[in-house]
Amino acid sequence: MDVLRRRSLLTAGLVTGAALSGCTAEARPGTRSAAFDPDDWDSVRAQFPLDPDLVHLAAFVLAAHPKPVGDAIDRHRAGLDRDTAHYVQEQHQAEDEVRRAAAGYLNTEPANIALTDSTTMGLGLLYSGLKLRPGQEILTTEHDFYATTEALRLTSERTGATVRRIRLYDEPSAASEAEIVARLRAAIGPRTRVVAVTWVHSGTGVRLPIPAIGEAVAEANAGRPPADRALLCVDGVHGFGAVDTDIGDLRCDFLATGTHKWLFGPRGTGLLWGREWDALAALIPTFSGDAGGPGAAFTPGGYHSFEHRWAAREAFEFHGRIGRDRIAARTAEQAGQLKEGLAGIDGVRLVTPATPSLSAGIVCCELSTMDAFAATAALRQEHRIAASVTPYAQQYLRLGPSIVTTPEQIDRTIEAVRTLA
Ligand SMILES: Cc1ncc(COP(=O)(O)O)c(C=O)c1O
Repeated sequence: MDVLRRRSLLTAGLVTGAALSGCTAEARPGTRSAAFDPDDWDSVRAQFPLDPDLVHLAAFVLAAHPKPVGDAIDRHRAGLDRDTAHYVQEQHQAEDEVRRAAAGYLNTEPANIALTDSTTMGLGLLYSGLKLRPGQEILTTEHDFYATTEALRLTSERTGATVRRIRLYDEPSAASEAEIVARLRAAIGPRTRVVAVTWVHSGTGVRLPIPAIGEAVAEANAGRPPADRALLCVDGVHGFGAVDTDIGDLRCDFLATGTHKWLFGPRGTGLLWGREWDALAALIPTFSGDAGGPGAAFTPGGYHSFEHRWAAREAFEFHGRIGRDRIAARTAEQAGQLKEGLAGIDGVRLVTPATPSLSAGIVCCELSTMDAFAATAALRQEHRIAASVTPYAQQYLRLGPSIVTTPEQIDRTIEAVRTLA
């Protein structure tokens, strides 16, 4: 039985009947109240409190809360502020509902989903929890974010497993599925216990062909005992909410992601999905009990910013009402439009592959006239366009079309970049 539920039963009858779950929070200042039509992209955009005077091409960095998510946060916050301990007890099923909603999105079982606060926390739980022996190898790449490389460094120090880093492509815009898979397949050796990769590289916009990599890993595992099999572990954050796929089709073993980027879930939320959890040791005591399967058992306990955690359910529902496939198509369509426009500008070098299957929503490019920081500043100051810079040694101008942008805004962005190039 989970800790919060047990407390709830122990105190049943001692609490007053103040049914806070029924109390409605007042509308937040600045929230828009127009009826939501999930088939209308303007209506979808109107659910966001984002500054309407800006083109939000950095919205994926950290989510703004669409109205259903903001309302759910407000409702939970009001309940917590009024009668905290009682409200926590009343909401003892809220976490299960989040895991159910996440499972619906991924087409998997709630039992395979642990809730986290971020991608970074999920990667930490994963790479620190994997049972590795000295002499085993972690195979990773040069394209991963700090959260992966640092978690692997710490794991290596603690366990004695070595880390080998390979390059999957030399020129991102010319990357090919065959080459990526071939390089990875050639690097998997008999000691490789972990293959640690990132679904969509936030430094280049390259989307890895995870299903094909999963197939290569499965081939390498043929005949190996379970304790020696290579596990495909993925930082999924820039594909999650932007690419239309069931988790089973990715053919990975673990995927860590935030739900506060492309999904536009509450800030400070994420999940770790695992196919089988025997390879992992839990690091943080759970408050979620064992009835919810390994996902619950691996959900770090302690009290959380529950108003955010529980409102992740509404983020999955919002996404589901619009349609995972429609959102992915809308993202890809604008990314394609942007890439085509940028590629046609003299003085702009497109870094992200034009091929839709090797990219998602992130579009990176380089200008011959100025560095990425200057370009980002000029886009904001002169054109009211919010962009970002890749947080890596190699800094590119990074643009992320999503459900909060429009094809017209993408045209405007292409013209704005043209004036800077
Ligand atoms: C590839 C990648 N993984 C993880 C993160 C960190 O995500 P989170 O804030 O959910 O830990 C980032 C950037 O924020 C990223 O680009």
